[in-house]
Amino acid sequence: MKTSLLLSALLAFCLAPTAQASEALASKSGCMACHTKDKKLVGPAFRDVSAKYKDQKDAEAKLIDKVRKGGSGNWGPIPMSPNGPEKISDGDLKTVVEWILKGAA
Ligand code: HEC
Repeated sequence: MKTSLLLSALLAFCLAPTAQASEALASKSGCMACHTKDKKLVGPAFRDVSAKYKDQKDAEAKLIDKVRKGGSGNWGPIPMSPNGPEKISDGDLKTVVEWILKGAA
């Protein structure tokens, strides 16, 4: 009991900075101008995106491609503008999409 408490505290401690880093990356890359974690803004809330795609195996690749090229139709008529490599690198984009799919906590 004590050990598991300690372990989960330790785990929370290790995970938290990573999640914060992903969120910071999303803000730095301009994503948070149109998205928030839990409310629809111009684009869907990242928690809603996670709920929609969490059971799809190819979701990560699909979403990375969509964020790069932009487009509309999955959430409504408003398009997402393309986000090229000058806005967000491949590595950063993968980190941010993984964070979104995990629920953007
Ligand atoms: C100009 C506003 C805008 C910016 C900037 C923006 N988005 Fe979006 N995003 C949208 C809109 C609008 C949609 C809904 C598109 C649709 O209906 O298919 C969307 C959809 C998404 C989706 C779901 C795609 C789908 O097909 O279901 C993800 C994931 C996403 N955005 C991530 C990002 C990330 C990561 C960034 C930063 C690199 C970003 N967005 C920047 C407006 C934006």
